[in-house]
Amino acid sequence: MTKPSILILPGDGIGPEVMKEVRKVIDWYGTNLGLAFDVSEDLVGGVAYDAHGTPLHDSTLTKAQEVDAVLLGAVGGPDYDNLDFNVKPERGLLRLRKEMDLFANLRPAQCFNALAEFSSLKTEVVSGLDIMIVRELTSGIYFGEPRGIIEEGNERIGINTQRYTESEIDRVARSAFELARRRGNKVCSMEKANVMESGVLWREVVQKVHDEDYRDVELSHMYADAGAMQLCRWPKQFDVIVTDNLFGDLLSDAAAMLTGSLGMLPSASLGTPMANGRPKALYEPVHGSAPDIAGEGKANPIACILSFAMALRYSFDEGKEADRLEAAVESVLADGFRTADLLGEKGVDPVTTQQMGDAILAALNSTL
Ligand code: IPM
Ligand code: MG
Repeated sequence: MTKPSILILPGDGIGPEVMKEVRKVIDWYGTNLGLAFDVSEDLVGGVAYDAHGTPLHDSTLTKAQEVDAVLLGAVGGPDYDNLDFNVKPERGLLRLRKEMDLFANLRPAQCFNALAEFSSLKTEVVSGLDIMIVRELTSGIYFGEPRGIIEEGNERIGINTQRYTESEIDRVARSAFELARRRGNKVCSMEKANVMESGVLWREVVQKVHDEDYRDVELSHMYADAGAMQLCRWPKQFDVIVTDNLFGDLLSDAAAMLTGSLGMLPSASLGTPMANGRPKALYEPVHGSAPDIAGEGKANPIACILSFAMALRYSFDEGKEADRLEAAVESVLADGFRTADLLGEKGVDPVTTQQMGDAILAALNSTL
């Protein structure tokens, strides 16, 4: 049987150093459990711009379309801030999402018990928190036309367009309901139907999908601003939240911070199934490239390692192995290992990126 394939795109900033730890974890599965992957590597973001003059070379996109899963580190950094808008590192990522049609972005916000105290909210508000934001990722105001900066009279106008078709809403709603069935069986849909027509349509379509095919799942609707407030007030009321591209961008950062650190959170971006039945998929940490600490061994590799756990679950049908990896991370945290981003306690020395990776491997070893 051919091995499942993974394309690794470490990207910029801390991307390469956290990805190095992920690579060790991937290899661990091959060596110890015979679960071997065919791994290749390529460039995305600023490093791709340096090499090719574009943040995503066509040949990289072709590879990404062919593999079973893409693992991405992070893109962007101050060296690229002044580049033309169309070749900025972020455009590489957005093009990958769009061209691979990765419409459902799963962003779990899970609070590890050992870290509840790092949240800016009270421990009782966040401990045990386990919510999933499903963000629509390939449409809405990120991609709608017309867009641009035009001149009218003697001033310039910046334009972006929020646009959603019924089928775009329908398919992401289905992803949310399917996920909810495997979790707490509740979906809260967020939009601004009070001020935006796209929100009115969003609400209608989500309700229709529910009434036709998912009556067993509890559905509620909330205006996105109220949703942001409720996320801070009592986040445990939510199970799955489904929302559009821009609201999802904002709400997922807010939800991430509830858990104490952005350095902990993985994400999966899924598209339609390929010929082999696996969904097109890209996995990446929610955090950015953190150029201020890049190369110093301070970065937390956990978000990226947990992104591989999501790949095990959603691309490779290895839910038990995903559980094993998540449990290893949990036990390392419970044992007190902390990278610099997690240091709240006095008298605890931070471990390096590599030491955190090694600790997770040791925890994996102890499960054999
Ligand atoms: C994210 C990021 C991206 C986005 C950027 C880097 C293009 O903020 O993945 O949340 O806005 O979608
Ligand atoms: Mg974001």
